[in-house]
Amino acid sequence: MKVLVTGGAGYIGSHTVVELINAEYSVVIADDLSNARHEVIDRVQAITGTRPLFYQINCADKRELQTVFTRNEIDAVIHFAGFKAVGESVHKPLQYYRNNLDSTMTLLEVMEEFGCKKFIFSSSATVYGPENPHPYKEEMPAIQSSSPYGWTKVMIERILTDYTTAHPDFCAVLLRYFNPIGAHESGLLGDDPNGIPNNLMPYIARVAAGQLEKLTIFGGDYPTPDGTCQRDYLHVVDLAVGHLKALEYAKSHVGVEAINLGTGNGVSVFELVQAFEKVNNIKLNYIIGPRRDGDLPAFWADATKAKALLGWEATHTIEDMCESAWGFAKNTSL
Ligand code: UD1
Repeated sequence: MKVLVTGGAGYIGSHTVVELINAEYSVVIADDLSNARHEVIDRVQAITGTRPLFYQINCADKRELQTVFTRNEIDAVIHFAGFKAVGESVHKPLQYYRNNLDSTMTLLEVMEEFGCKKFIFSSSATVYGPENPHPYKEEMPAIQSSSPYGWTKVMIERILTDYTTAHPDFCAVLLRYFNPIGAHESGLLGDDPNGIPNNLMPYIARVAAGQLEKLTIFGGDYPTPDGTCQRDYLHVVDLAVGHLKALEYAKSHVGVEAINLGTGNGVSVFELVQAFEKVNNIKLNYIIGPRRDGDLPAFWADATKAKALLGWEATHTIEDMCESAWGFAKNTSL
């Protein structure tokens, strides 16, 4: 089976490509490298012994995408490609809507042209918005999102739902990720954002590596047990395996299905910092600063649907996540 992975050179995409190759799928990557490096392809090859086919294209470019589908008989698409910086999306909404929506719709048009009917989408827990109580369940309404980035996820879920209604032989699986962190055990793949990281774990890793002076914990006065926000952190390799399970599911199903991928447990910023320090034997320099706009105090997944439908469950611990994140950061900071 041949799978097109858009954004396959990125953080979650590259880990998924490794798991796909290990499970003997044939993989084609489409990535414009706007937030990833070509070297990732070499690293995937070093880990798996197989070099995935790579096209440096933007998925909103229909001609280029048609070329990929003409040259390869694509059976399914896993769509990661998209802009993902929450703060940036507030300042550049048009760029986010244009890129994320256009690429998805172009992909669907080209898939239709070539008779490809299996789609796995990289969605986010952000679609639950600030109004829903946690743990989040898939049937809760996506009522409000807190950023244009989040809205692109809500809108793409809507587009895929309407498309599937119009094409009842199509299958779309909407995977709603919670907070993926950690890295591949080889230390060759991980989260390596350009510039100063926005997300917690890459920020911690750069403080540990001495590249950033200190971590600012955004708010210590939340209504949580230790006053810091709680999130559902999951290991990126567990998340990658979740995509494989979703693909297996899509092979024998039609229709649209939203599925949470999380552990079902809340972990606070303090707890994550302490776990990182303990497992890696490193002291992290941090201060407690003001709250960050748009952050919710606490949320985690109800992960029962993923287990029931896909037979998927997260297996890695917070310690595994912290150890592997540092293993990768050490490598990249050398
Ligand atoms: C955000 C997005 C989510 C997106 C995810 C990964 C929202 C509401 N959430 O999740 O959609 O999929 O990023 O890109 O838009 N923190 C600090 N100091 C830091 C950085 C973070 O204390 O320097 C705290 C935050 O306040 C938060 C936690 O760490 O409580 C996790 O933050 P982050 O890694 O940015 O992820 P989310 O905001 O949960």
